[in-house]
Parts: sequence; C-alpha cells; structure tokens
Amino acid sequence: MSNPFREDLVSRSRPEPCTVVIFGATGDLTHRKLVPALYNLAVDGELPPGVKILGFARREKSDAEFRTGLEEINRKVSRSGHDAAIWSRFVESIHYHCSEFTDADGYQRLAAKLDDIDRERGGKGNRLFYVASAPEFFDDILENLKGAGLNQAAPGCWARVIVEKPFGTDLATAQHLNQVVNRTFEEKDTYRIDHYLGKETAQNLMVLRFANSIFEPLWNSSHIEQIQITCAENLGMEGGRGGYYDKSGALRDMVQNHLLQLLSLVAMEPPTDLSADGVRDEKVKVLRSLRQWDTPEKVAANVVRAQYTAGHVDGTPVPGYREEDRVDPESMTEAYVALRLMIDTWRWSGVPFYIRMGKRLPKKATEISVHFKQPPGVLFNALPGGVPGSNVLVIRIQPDEGISLRMVSKIPGTSLRLEPVKMDFHYATSFGKSSPEAYERLLLDAMAGDATLFARRDEVEEAWRFIDHIERAWHESGESIPMAEFDAGSWGPKEADELVKADGFTWRRL
Ligand code: BG6
Repeated sequence: MSNPFREDLVSRSRPEPCTVVIFGATGDLTHRKLVPALYNLAVDGELPPGVKILGFARREKSDAEFRTGLEEINRKVSRSGHDAAIWSRFVESIHYHCSEFTDADGYQRLAAKLDDIDRERGGKGNRLFYVASAPEFFDDILENLKGAGLNQAAPGCWARVIVEKPFGTDLATAQHLNQVVNRTFEEKDTYRIDHYLGKETAQNLMVLRFANSIFEPLWNSSHIEQIQITCAENLGMEGGRGGYYDKSGALRDMVQNHLLQLLSLVAMEPPTDLSADGVRDEKVKVLRSLRQWDTPEKVAANVVRAQYTAGHVDGTPVPGYREEDRVDPESMTEAYVALRLMIDTWRWSGVPFYIRMGKRLPKKATEISVHFKQPPGVLFNALPGGVPGSNVLVIRIQPDEGISLRMVSKIPGTSLRLEPVKMDFHYATSFGKSSPEAYERLLLDAMAGDATLFARRDEVEEAWRFIDHIERAWHESGESIPMAEFDAGSWGPKEADELVKADGFTWRRL
C-alpha cells in the first residue's frame, strides 16, 4: 500500500528555468560533458524552456567563436548524435563572458549581463553557478560571486552552486573549501558533484536493494562473504592529463569520491525516506564506520599502490607511467590502487570490501560484485570438485550496464554434474534505449533543487579523513611502503592478488 505521507518525497520536483553560468567554459569538461549534456536534454525535451547558458572564462572569445568550438566537440561526443536543426535552436541560448576569475569587475559585468538575460527572458532570475575551473580558482570565484551579490537570489528565485571535483586535496583543504562555499551559499543551495552518482546503475543500486524483497534479507555478514568494487580504465595520461594526475594519483582521483560513494550505496542501511538528507544520512554513516588504516603498518597490510611499466593495451605499445607526458620520471604517484576496507557495523562485521582502481588495465569497466557464502558442505560435497563456486551478484556500472547473478546448475544429462550459470539483465536490451549521461541527470536535479545525488559536506570530509591516513603513511614512509609495478595492459600487480589471497579470495575476472 502506498504511503500518502511520503508522496512528496517520491515524486521528483520539476527542473525550473534558469541561467547556467559555467566557470571554466573553455575547458574540456564544458566541451565534452556539460554542454553535450544540456544539448541532449534539449533533444529529449527535458530542458526547461528558457534555460540560458553563459560560459565564463579568461580567454578572449566572441559568442560565435565559443559556439563553434562547442559544436565541433558536440558532433563527436553527443550521446544522441548531432542534429543541425536542434543545435541551431539550442545554441541561441549560449553566450560567452570573458573575465579573469580574480577580477571583481568581471563579476559586476556578469551581474549586469544576467539581469539583461532575465529581462529578455521575461522570467525569474534563477541562477545555477557551475564551478568547473581549475581548482586553484574555486575560492576566488565563490568570494567574487558573493562580492557581486550573485549568491543572493531575487525574491521567489534561487541561486545555487555546483562545485566540481577535486573537492580539496586532503581533509584540511576540503574543510577550507567547505567553509568558503558555506560562507557564500547555504548548504541547501550547494551541490558537490560526483558524476558517478548520476550514472544509471549507481542510481539503480538503491532500487535493486530496497524495491526487491529477495536481496535485503541476505545483504549482511551472515550471507555475504566479501564485496569487490573494480574500476578499470585502459587509458593512461593522454591529452596532457599527466600534469594533474601526477599530483593526485588513483586514491585521490577516484577512490576518495566515486568509489567510496559507490561503497556507501552498497553498504548503507535503508534510509527512512528518499529525501536528500534521508539518503545522505545513511551514506555518511558508512564512511564514519570505515576502520581507519591510521598507521604505516596498517596501510602496508591493507593497501597496495602501483605504477604501470611499458606494455601493450589493445595490441598497441604504450609507455610506462613514469615515461608519460608531464609525469615526473621519479614519480611516487600511484596509477593503480587496491584496498581492503572493513566497515565496523553490525551488518558488515567481518566482511571485507575490496576496491581496486587502475589506469592502463586491459579495458574500461566498472562493476560491483557481491560474493555470497558457499552453501553448507553437505549433499554435493562428494562430487568431484564439490560445488563449483558460490553465488555472485554483479552490478555492472559501465559499460553494458546491467546486473547478473551467478548460480549453480545441474548440467543436463543422466549423471549429476554441476556448473555455474548466469542470469543476466542488460539495460540496453530490457529498456531498448541508451541511458542518459550522468551529467544530464545531475544538471536537471540541480535545476529541480534535488541534492540527493550530490555529496554533502560531511560525506566529503569523512571520505578525506579515511584517505588522508593512507596518503600520509605513503608520504612519510617513502619507499618503505613499496610502489608495486605491473605491465600496462595486465590486470594489476601481483601484490594486489596477494592482498585478496591472504583472505582466501581472488579478484573477479572481468
Ligand atoms: C574522473 C577522473 O573523475 O573520472 C578520471 O578524474 C577518470 O581520472 C574519470 O578517468 C572516470 O569517469 P568515467 O565516467 O569515464 O568512468
């Protein structure tokens, strides 16, 4: 029976017309992700009418030049292809504003421009500020928005801010950024984006767990032996990424945010409702319950860091990490990390969670696998080999989004022989359409004022608390916590295999 008191929380608020101001408008993210996402929303008829886009960046450009650059990339990357007629209507809503991020004057001019846009639209002055510049400008942008009064909305309107990653480089810088953000915008108007939360399969995790009755009773240490989260990438440091990456590394770049967010969704308790805080209250409890690897000994025992050496990916020779463009030849930054995590709650007591993430692995794939315990050792034990493996529920985040369940079955025939089989669900075939890009959903949610799929202040800080101990141990112990190596194009270092082997497991083969 539906609960009449909760309907307001289940039905989604409607995205409202607004002007989206993108800081860092000449960057890759704007061209490859943000504008194509807005375009695809327009194609699907989901973009509220009257949405305007204003790119803010330092480089001198006319509106026309800005639009041409966006079009070139949209043609290549747009999910639904590029329709010239739709684009020509859509592009009318895009403008460019040239200013230094640090120039207070530029923000006064921005304010005047936004007022003009509102007047032309004849609508309300809702504003969505998207901070996607290089991180060293985040503070300046926020302070200058406040200086120009742009953090305040006109009566009946809203002013919201989306802050891109990296949200700090450690706990102290994240806390500082949180202070700056919250001095400028209220927490309810702050949207810390983590695009993994916008991925269709990540959103489906809650549905899988809480809209089906068969999983939740088994979702605990009585039935689950271990859980693995794998995020494999075949790319290395193309396009000058080495400069950023070598200062960050796999742990900060992917684990602190995307992969700990996935972990929270897998491990959290059922929320009391689907409100932003209802869900985030439960996610943050998972992060708070992580056992801290707070000594170099614990880090050495539970975390493996590695770099790739030269090898082959898809048959093409690729350089080793230290030979990559803009990477220090003596770099001690990890391009691969594998961790054992323990969540000290009643539900997960004694269940290891493993996360591994690496660049230059054989393919791009992200998945979560839930490994159930073996059935009791009776009945089929006398068969050669016993029962072949246990049940594994695999949630494929990307590509080929879907869910599969591994079971054991009898091989048809007169003798009793067992073999694992797979029940498989693919989004593409079941729903017959491609999933929207993560940024499409997240931009719409911000326009609708729904922060459920954005990280809250305490989540970001708890995640950094966990990561900081590991970074500190690596930093302080130098090479006494070794940097393992693996051939580019292989599945990671042997040390990562040993990490799970010590608990009696192997990594799932993707
Ligand atoms: C970004 C990281 O946040 O996520 C990149 O900075 C990474 O290093 C990317 O490649 C992965 O995103 P996706 O959606 O392609 O899995």
